[in-house]
Amino acid sequence: MAPSAILLSLWAIFGLLASHCQATDYVLYSNPTTKLLSGQSLSYDMTRHGIPGPASLVMQEDCNLVSYYKGEVVWASNTTGKALWCYLYVDELYHRAEIIGVPTESSGLPYKYNLLVWSNDGFIFGGDSVFILQWNGVLGLYGPSIWSSPNEGEIANSSISSEETTDYVIYSYSVLPIGLIAKYKNFQLVLEDSCNLILSRTDTGKVLWQSHKFSGSHDCFVTLDGNGELFVTHGNREILWRSETRSKNYGIYVLALRKDARLVIYGPQAWSSTMPRKHISSW
Ligand SMILES: *[C@@H]1O[C@H](CO)[C@@H](O)[C@H](O)[C@H]1NC(C)=O
Ligand SMILES: *[C@@H]1O[C@H](CO)[C@@H](O)[C@H](O)[C@H]1NC(C)=O
Repeated sequence: MAPSAILLSLWAIFGLLASHCQATDYVLYSNPTTKLLSGQSLSYDMTRHGIPGPASLVMQEDCNLVSYYKGEVVWASNTTGKALWCYLYVDELYHRAEIIGVPTESSGLPYKYNLLVWSNDGFIFGGDSVFILQWNGVLGLYGPSIWSSPNEGEIANSSISSEETTDYVIYSYSVLPIGLIAKYKNFQLVLEDSCNLILSRTDTGKVLWQSHKFSGSHDCFVTLDGNGELFVTHGNREILWRSETRSKNYGIYVLALRKDARLVIYGPQAWSSTMPRKHISSW
């Protein structure tokens, strides 16, 4: 196994980092799997960059999953006491977010049994997905993955504080000018003045990927459209570079600068916590 593969498996085994104080871990990935374990939380806190907040998502020890915005509850799974040692993860096969736990003694189920406590409505088969805590405490599930940068996975420098992270998820219909596009710890995506889109490590300067298309116009933009295609445009919105992968399904896509330094586009949005709960008709 290549060293990077070993490190990535370790990342998968240990799941989501340490618990609290991760000011800026707000994405769960289905592949490699990250889990939000009992007592852990996701947090989106960009208040130092002038974005209102913070928002957080807590997998409580009592098995209730609760999201907050500025300290107020935005959404809850209402699964208090349904199981023990509950965790949230994204099921790649069913392409949905699930809370899994160990049955309580009073349930009469065998202790080894994995109990499905909650899942978002509906599922479609297949594909990588991401589960994202938005700035306002709203939750969203996006997938499958339709494009990724070809660079190999990297491990972030653990001595870089998550405070150095800025937004690292870009949504469809965003239009981003020259400058920093996304930053996760010591990985950054920058649209240079030359209109080259470049992914690199800030600690070693190593270039991980770049679009290799240049323009002297000094007015270029990065955009992600409603079919999940990423563009660099220049001049009069002319296309300079495109990711060349479009989905037939129109909707909201996300580009994530993942914690393994790969750029991946997921979508469209398959579920949001603002969607009304579907009522299952009884017989
Ligand atoms: C949880 O309960 C609250 C209050 O009754 C309700 O408004 C909300 O829709 C419930 N959440 C889910 C996911 O069913
Ligand atoms: C990680 O970051 C720290 C602080 O910036 C730096 O001193 C150190 O050399 C970096 N380590 C590696 C392996 O790049």
